[in-house]
Amino acid sequence: MPSFSITTMVLVIIAMMMFGVSTAQLSPTFYATSCSNLSNVVREVVEQARANDVRLGAKIIRVHFHDCFVNLQMAYRARKVQLRTCQQPGMKSLTASKPHWSVCPGVVSCADIVALASQILVSLDGGPTWELPLGRRDSRTANRAGTTAIPGPFETLTQIEAKYIAQGLDATDLVASSGAHTFGRARCATFSRRLFNFNNTGSPDSTIDPTYLQTLQQSCPQGGPAGTLNNLDPTTPDAFDNNYYTNVQNNRGLLQTDQVLFSTADRPDVAAIVNRFAGSQAEFFAAFGQFMIRMGDLNPLTGNNGEIRTNCRRINQ
Ligand code: HEM
Ligand SMILES: *[C@@H]1O[C@H](CO)[C@@H](O)[C@H](O)[C@H]1NC(C)=O
Ligand SMILES: *[C@@H]1O[C@H](CO)[C@@H](O)[C@H](O)[C@H]1NC(C)=O
Repeated sequence: MPSFSITTMVLVIIAMMMFGVSTAQLSPTFYATSCSNLSNVVREVVEQARANDVRLGAKIIRVHFHDCFVNLQMAYRARKVQLRTCQQPGMKSLTASKPHWSVCPGVVSCADIVALASQILVSLDGGPTWELPLGRRDSRTANRAGTTAIPGPFETLTQIEAKYIAQGLDATDLVASSGAHTFGRARCATFSRRLFNFNNTGSPDSTIDPTYLQTLQQSCPQGGPAGTLNNLDPTTPDAFDNNYYTNVQNNRGLLQTDQVLFSTADRPDVAAIVNRFAGSQAEFFAAFGQFMIRMGDLNPLTGNNGEIRTNCRRINQ
């Protein structure tokens, strides 16, 4: 019947329109015509900045992670809401080269530059690469309350897993993404409670290897400075590899939230993922790339939402 098929067609068109509006429009070829040389330019900038800062990749990927989990889209500086994340030194290295971005003024978002810089830096540091969807826009607002979505280092496995599940991510994502702690540093403040009187037991965290414990106690003595930096991966501190997982197998996870992935008694399923990635760097790299794509697609602003920052460190005036 003609009327039936016309109705059906109209419904299909409406459905397609709704689908088009409600799904994110990120695509690896987003800038193919509007800024075709983008990845070469970002690569050149981060190669130069990385030559002076071996930790650049770690700093930038962490900004990207926090930005995605809170859905800030680089909105760290909306008036009174000052979020520490994006004022980290790594962002300065990236934004100091501002003239470089003017190859395509008003076209490329800062959120995309951070995503692209993260992807390039991970591979420069020895890690995997992945096909990166682009087209995010920068937010004009910040979301301080939303920072509770970011997992904290004193949480249990149940708590951090719940935060991943709330974002539509799973235990494999949790274990694969924690592998980002294969490079970068952490302040004593983020793990020193494990070293002497853990959880009011009067003893250190029993899931720390004794030799590693001694090293950490020397680096972070009781009453000492909270800001001393420690390698998240004591084995290969600046390389992006799967040694993070062998560390954790050997009770050398730095943060409580690293070690719980292997040492939570009632979660052999999660420990099994650690074992899998310890046994195969290729499987870790593949899972990490998949996580990065999923993480980068957590409610991005697209279309006409938000803005394209002219200065990554503040919203447009
Ligand atoms: C289970 C969830 C996670 C927790 C609880 C966590 C916690 C932390 C903490 C406490 C630090 C040290 C910060 C400081 O000293 O101020 C840190 C550093 C770092 N995190 Fe995570 N993190 C998590 C997941 C991730 C993910 C998913 C990524 C990236 C994909 C990531 C990348 C990094 C990097 C690279 C550093 C070192 C940064 C630097 O050297 O400046 N983390 N993390
Ligand atoms: C693309 O960018 C690179 C790195 O900045 C530069 O060397 C090259 O000349 C650029 N190519 C074009 C066609 O603009
Ligand atoms: C800390 O101690 C409390 C109370 O004894 C206990 O419920 C909790 O599981 C402990 N946390 C850790 C990480 O051991």
